[in-house]
Amino acid sequence: MRIAWAFTGAGHLLLESVVELEKLSLEHKVTVFLSRAGEEVLKMYGLFNRVKKVTGGYYRELALEREQEYSYPITGRLSMGRYKLLIVSPTTSNTVAKIVHGIADNLITNAVAQAGKGKVKTLIIPVDLEEGDVDTVLPSKLELEKCENCQPCKAAAACPQDAIIPGTEINLLKCSGCGTCELTCPFQAISGGKIITIYMRYLDVENTRKLTHLNGVSVLENPNDIEKHI
Ligand SMILES: Cc1cc2nc3c(=O)[nH]c(=O)nc-3n(C[C@H](O)[C@H](O)[C@H](O)COP(=O)(O)O)c2cc1C
Repeated sequence: MRIAWAFTGAGHLLLESVVELEKLSLEHKVTVFLSRAGEEVLKMYGLFNRVKKVTGGYYRELALEREQEYSYPITGRLSMGRYKLLIVSPTTSNTVAKIVHGIADNLITNAVAQAGKGKVKTLIIPVDLEEGDVDTVLPSKLELEKCENCQPCKAAAACPQDAIIPGTEINLLKCSGCGTCELTCPFQAISGGKIITIYMRYLDVENTRKLTHLNGVSVLENPNDIEKHI
């Protein structure tokens, strides 16, 4: 079966999404679409290479929004019904808001619009499901209260991406999530995978509810639920 899988720029449910993508790719031809933020965030969490690894070949392409022009011709495959299924997981509140308002101005929202036109079933796994507190995981973070501001900074010297600004922060746009810094800092001043609690806004949850009224779209709570729909 041909499946299109779109990643948007959410850290929440990201690892779970990559694990499901890996499973599906064993049995199906999966084309992966990444929004610009999706690509950045996958790198920050050290998951980009895992996604890249399952791609390669016809209908197994890795389609990067940053490499596309403004008309997103690859999404024409969806309007022509060339895929059995489109999965968007994880889906940011930004992308959900655009979808429910019919906006199709980037690779992922365009893919959803074209899937609707090609009657391709779409599964959306939004990160904002219910109002209230939700635990989510952060990428690598410099914990300043533990940082001894060593001169020179061993973690900065070891970072292959030159992403660490000693005594200040990690430049996440350079970080590839490899974790070398965590292993190198003698003061354990870099955390990886720290859990924080964030609040889901009413507006975003309301937009998710509106998604459930769209024709051809099913909203799932977790990437683990995808297999039941295939
Ligand atoms: C580390 C990191 C994690 C993020 N996690 C989320 C998230 O869980 N949910 C969300 O809605 N936005 C999250 N964002 C913000 C989105 O990436 C941002 O709104 C982006 O513009 C979304 O673009 P897209 O919907 O086109 O992918 C995160 C950003 C960063 C840097």
